Amino acid sequence: MPETAMNAGQVSGFYMPELAKVYRTCRKETDIIIEAGMHSGRPLGHMPGQFVQVSVFGYGEVPISICSSPTRTPDRFELCVRPVGGVTKALYNKNSEDWIGIRGPFGRGFPVDLTKGKDILVVAGGIGIAPLRSLINYIMDKREEYGRLIIVYGAKTPDLILFTSDIEQWENQPDAEVYLTVDEADNSWNGRTGVVTLPIREIEIDPARTAAMVVGPPVMYRFVAMELLKKDMDPDNIFFSLERHFKCGIGKCGHCQLNDLYVCHDGPTFRYSDLLARTEAIEAWAPEKDQD
Ligand SMILES: Cc1cc2nc3c(=O)[nH]c(=O)nc-3n(C[C@H](O)[C@H](O)[C@H](O)COP(=O)(O)OP(=O)(O)OC[C@H]3O[C@@H](n4cnc5c(N)ncnc54)[C@H](O)[C@@H]3O)c2cc1C
Ligand code: FES
Repeated sequence: MPETAMNAGQVSGFYMPELAKVYRTCRKETDIIIEAGMHSGRPLGHMPGQFVQVSVFGYGEVPISICSSPTRTPDRFELCVRPVGGVTKALYNKNSEDWIGIRGPFGRGFPVDLTKGKDILVVAGGIGIAPLRSLINYIMDKREEYGRLIIVYGAKTPDLILFTSDIEQWENQPDAEVYLTVDEADNSWNGRTGVVTLPIREIEIDPARTAAMVVGPPVMYRFVAMELLKKDMDPDNIFFSLERHFKCGIGKCGHCQLNDLYVCHDGPTFRYSDLLARTEAIEAWAPEKDQD
């Protein structure tokens, strides 16, 4: 079984949502961070890159990445939600003491065991930072087990940058390299401007000892893959997390099918080399072979 795949024998929280209590929320105009804990008291038991199916009673159920690291507060977990439709807007309105339903954790997360000893290049676009924040804090807590930690994070505008206090901490770590950029600057911004591929170009990496973990909008994947291949990275060492419409979240209903794969069960994290043969996955963002 893959190292972070769900435990298929697990019954509790597998088909039936379990109650979880909202302990704390941090709401901004564009998103909310919800800290919750299982009513049963069981630790969520997730790994970075996994997701939960979150129910808002009377509204529905949606997949949301777990954005906290399992190395911190094992009896609590955090979700970062951007309100885009019915269920996520209902989640956005949650307050402490409210109840939500949780199934999971599900899916295959980032290959944290397989990449031990390697330099880790994290590339996040937009809300893609949510699962990667779990990974980054996991690596921070096991720092001696990994090589360099390089974090590239791009947001559309400065007000859309998430986890600003984490970013400040990462920037203050001598053994982390942080490249933050925005597509469109405003008067409050005196940092980098431009898409995430620009800082990637600047960074010198040893392709043989680097693993890249990438989460963001599909259009970003095409260009990030191009930059990483230009740096001689092997597609075996590049990992993308994919998004599809999920229903069951456990490989039963076929809603998330991508060629012969179920994204919810076989992913959401995939090796780039495994996606190259899956036309459905890469037709929108694969680098063209003749592009230099
Ligand atoms: C593995 C995974 C992890 C996710 N993690 C997060 C997270 O950490 N935070 C977060 O805010 N969101 C996350 N999402 C996206 C979230 O699940 C969707 O935004 C949510 O399902 C929308 O449901 P809704 O009822 O609010 O809106 P709907 O009314 O169902 O949809 C609103 C709009 O979003 C589009 N949409 C809905 N679901 C998806 C999807 N999966 N992919 C692309 N477009 C979609 C719809 O087509 C529609 O245009 C994740 C999705 C997946 C598959
Ligand atoms: S969401 Fe049902 S199989 Fe993936």
